[in-house]
Amino acid sequence: MKWKTRVSELMDSEYPIIQAALSRIGNWKLAAAVSETGAHGCLTAAVSLTPEKLRDDIKRCRDATDKPFSVNITVGMCPHIDEMLDVCLDEGIEVIETAAFAGDPYGKRIKEAGRTWVHKTATLRHALHAQKAGADAIIIVGLEGIGFKNVSQLPTMTTIAWAARHIKVPIIAAGGIGDARTFLGALALGAEGVMMGTAFMATRECPISDKFKNRMVKAFPDNPHFRTTVLAPPNPKMYEEVMKKRNEMPLENWLTAMERVMLKHDDWEIAPEMWNEDYDRLSSLMSFAATYVDHIPTVQEFIDNIINGAEEILDSWEFLKR
Ligand SMILES: Cc1cc2nc3c(=O)[nH]c(=O)nc-3n(C[C@H](O)[C@H](O)[C@H](O)COP(=O)(O)O)c2cc1C
Repeated sequence: MKWKTRVSELMDSEYPIIQAALSRIGNWKLAAAVSETGAHGCLTAAVSLTPEKLRDDIKRCRDATDKPFSVNITVGMCPHIDEMLDVCLDEGIEVIETAAFAGDPYGKRIKEAGRTWVHKTATLRHALHAQKAGADAIIIVGLEGIGFKNVSQLPTMTTIAWAARHIKVPIIAAGGIGDARTFLGALALGAEGVMMGTAFMATRECPISDKFKNRMVKAFPDNPHFRTTVLAPPNPKMYEEVMKKRNEMPLENWLTAMERVMLKHDDWEIAPEMWNEDYDRLSSLMSFAATYVDHIPTVQEFIDNIINGAEEILDSWEFLKR
């Protein structure tokens, strides 16, 4: 079966499945491995830290795969953001993703260079804004997801079905997607592609510890602490306090403080070590997609499972054959 949608066409991938940006984790090796499967890998520019390293990482990714991959620049979090974008444009990256805060000025430059601009947001209001600003596709992350949260964020099912009524450009659904059923469900809700972060963290190629991956295997979505941590939006008071300090500390420190608020991770200061430790609160760094993690597959096995599983489901629906 051909999984051709406007999203797979924009991404030039076999399947409308995209790997999400993952700060500190989303390196060229993971992006290349994902693109090799027929899904679409994404390099997180902030992982490269400097424009020079990003250029190097793009080249390494190209050496590792002939397939297309994109680059995420997370507004407000990615250091040297203008220079990072220069590198992406210079290196001929066709699809560039902005995220977190409004990406308009970067989107304008991406479009002027004739490239594809994809913006990631958490609300319909921001999606409408990005559409008006010229985004070619919009990723909408529902409450079941992890990462930047918004006080107005809705569950994935509601937000995607609602957005499908109002957004004309292709929608990419994210938030709690991690298996054939959730993939197919997102398409039925009106998305033309899915993006997954947590699910790709639970693959062998992801550069985090086996200990953390095994936490995902053991995670239960109905664990009260896990449930509350995933579904609760960030603390608005903490967010305002950090925003006020924007000009009072070096950018690196401010970004770390903001990540801590947005990812609701109280122990963010120990971030470099956290992947190897067993802190109780690490559940705040995985989403409800952990529900579907029952082993740690390779990226290829993971994508094959989704595609084969989705085709089996469609095949089992007798009413489609009448
Ligand atoms: C550890 C971690 C780091 C993340 N870092 C970023 C980031 O730097 N930029 C960004 O746009 N999103 C980031 N995200 C969010 C993901 O890109 C994606 O939106 C989210 O994982 C989707 O929900 P899911 O985990 O349920 O698939 C991060 C998520 C996690 C778990």
